[in-house]
Parts: sequence; structure tokens; C-alpha cells
Amino acid sequence: MARKVIYGQSGNPAEVVSVVEVDAPGPPGAGQVLVRVHAFPIHIGDLLAIQGPYPSQTAYLTPGLEATGIVEAVGPDTPVAPRVTAGARVSFFPHPGAWSEYVLVPAEFVVPVSDDVPDSIAAQMLINPITVLMLRRELEKHATVGYNGVFLQTAAGSNVGRLLSAVAQFHAIQHINIVRSDAGAETLRARYPGVPVVSTAQPTWKEEIREHIGARPVPAAVDPVGGALAGDLLRLLSPGGTLIIYGVLAKEPIPVHAGDLLGTSLGLRGLIVTRWAEIVPAEQRAHDMATAAQLIARGAAEAFDVAAQYGIDDIAQAVEHAVRPGKTTGMVLVTIP
Ligand SMILES: NC(=O)c1ccc[n+]([C@@H]2O[C@H](COP(=O)([O-])OP(=O)(O)OC[C@H]3O[C@@H](n4cnc5c(N)ncnc54)[C@H](OP(=O)(O)O)[C@@H]3O)[C@@H](O)[C@H]2O)c1
Repeated sequence: MARKVIYGQSGNPAEVVSVVEVDAPGPPGAGQVLVRVHAFPIHIGDLLAIQGPYPSQTAYLTPGLEATGIVEAVGPDTPVAPRVTAGARVSFFPHPGAWSEYVLVPAEFVVPVSDDVPDSIAAQMLINPITVLMLRRELEKHATVGYNGVFLQTAAGSNVGRLLSAVAQFHAIQHINIVRSDAGAETLRARYPGVPVVSTAQPTWKEEIREHIGARPVPAAVDPVGGALAGDLLRLLSPGGTLIIYGVLAKEPIPVHAGDLLGTSLGLRGLIVTRWAEIVPAEQRAHDMATAAQLIARGAAEAFDVAAQYGIDDIAQAVEHAVRPGKTTGMVLVTIP
């Protein structure tokens, strides 16, 4: 038997998720790897999917796209990444239904995990790093990024935000971090000395940003919040700039008048990691997965904090914790002992 998390209808994740025992899957077929999952992260995107538009589903669904564990078996004639053999530690993404004790994963989405990487990092080593790579590629469509251009990023204290800041600092890409509280700003300043941080709790935050920008161009802003904040960001961009939206933390819509975009040729762009396997060619995907592992190896590991860890039987508490305002920085992880 094997445990997995399910939900039968959309709604508040803490109320609709439960854990059931099911038959363990059979042996892997060609092209598949059977993984015994040891830990998975709770992403805000997982929770949005649970809250999503299926009020009366006909089938129970299992959330999650990423996890870490041990290879139980590799399917016959299955090409795998080096070191992906029975007994090896691996992580995988994307595989719908990752919040399960056993999963049959397409081999191309399975990567080995180094011995020195703990499960707490291995469990979150693909979605956020790949999101950051996608954001970086989007940013670098602007010629001034990495030179005199400065990009803005909101919710900069988030797991994704800290990682993007670490990557940008490593590559000397100038940016300004924006958070919603003074306490969050203090924490981020201490973590990334040299990167300006502005708190929107201060009524003068837009003037502060303009002061930091000085005469430099602002080719892009990276924003998982949306709403009124996104409208403000548009007005801080240079002509030809792009607002890259990658989350929906604000409840209200973005107030954009067509004229806001017209005269200065601004662009609005949505970006989501769930489309990565669809839009990125296989060779580039393999490179992205290797880069995710390198990020950890070269010291970005400090951007993979853990806010809390729960056993799978406490899944309701875990999903509630993941969206608690002002939660301790880091990912909420769930283990399957
Ligand atoms: N598009 C994609 O493919 C993709 C992939 C991964 C993540 N994401 C998105 O990226 C965002 C961050 O995810 P994460 O896992 O890194 O989050 P996280 O570590 O849980 O952090 C969430 C952050 O958002 C801030 N926040 C929450 N609501 C806010 C609001 N209304 N206005 C301003 N700030 C707000 C919180 O600030 P406090 O500390 O002040 O509470 C916190 O710093 C989420 O929106 C997530 O859905 C998107």
C-alpha cells in the first residue's frame, strides 16, 4: 500500500485535502522511473491549483509537480540521466500527482541528487530554480540587463525572489528589491548587502526607487503580486520596458489603461513554469535541470531555507502554514517517512 494526498473538489486547501492509502503502482514501463518519494515542497502554485475552477470534480486529484526520493526501479530500455539507477537519490519535475509515496515519472524529468544535498534542498531544487532561469531569460531579452539597466522585483523576500536576487548578484545584474514590510526589507538587506531594498509600507517608496534608479534605464520589472502594485511598476519602467507577471498574490486586477502602454511601448508578459516542458526544447531542458543542480553547488543554497517541516499525515496544517502571512522565510516541506 502507498499513501497519497487527494482532493475531491476545489476550495480552501486546508479543508479539501486528505491522505488516503492506495495500491502501490506496478513496475515502471518503458520510459518511466518508479520513485519512492521522501519529501515534497508546498508551492503557492500547488495551492492555487487546489483552489481552482473544479467545484464538482468527477475524480479525486493529487496535487504537486515536484518531489525528491529514491529510485525503486527503472523501466526497460529507458534512457536516464547519469547516476539515475535503482537505489539512487533523485528529484523530479514536472510530474502531476507528486504528493504521493510512489510515483511513476517520465525518465526525462528525473535528475540525480548529490550526496551532499540534503532532502530539504533536493525537494525544492527544480521548480524555483527553473522559474528563475525562465525569468532571467525573459529579462535578458532587454539589451541593457547586465549592463547599465536595473530591473525591479517585488515580493523579493520570497523563495523565488531570494534566488533571483542571488543569481542576479552572481552575474552582476543590477536590480532593486521591493517588499511589503519594513521588517522584510531589513532581513533582505542583511542577506544581500549591496542590493537596494525598498519597502512599500513607506509612503515614499516610489520616490526611493526613483532615487536608487538615478539616470539608469529600467528595462523590466519582475512581479508575482499583480494588482495595484503592478500598475505602479508599469509607471516606473523605461520606454520599451516589460512588466513580467509570474504570480497572482494580489486579489484585485491590474489597473491598466491602454494609454499606459501605448505612448511608451510598454509590454506585459505572463510567465509560468508549468509551461516549461511544453515551450522549452528537450536539450535546453536538460541544461536547465543541470543548472538547477549547479545553483546549489555554487552556493545559492542559502536561498533554499525551510520554514517548517510536516509529516504527510499533517498535510492540512502544512498547506495552511505555506500561505501564513509573514511566515518565517522559506519553503514548507512535507516528508513521507
Ligand atoms: N509563475 C511561476 O511559474 C511560479 C513559480 C514559482 C513561484 N511562483 C510565484 O512566486 C510567488 C512567490 O512564491 P514563493 O514560493 O517564492 O513564495 P513564499 O516564499 O511563500 O513568499 C511569498 C512572499 O510573497 C509576499 N506576499 C504575499 N502576498 C503579498 C502581497 N499581496 N503583496 C506583496 N507581497 C506579498 C510575502 O511577503 P511577507 O513576507 O510580507 O508575508 C512573501 O515574501 C508566488 O506568487 C508564487 O505563486 C510562480
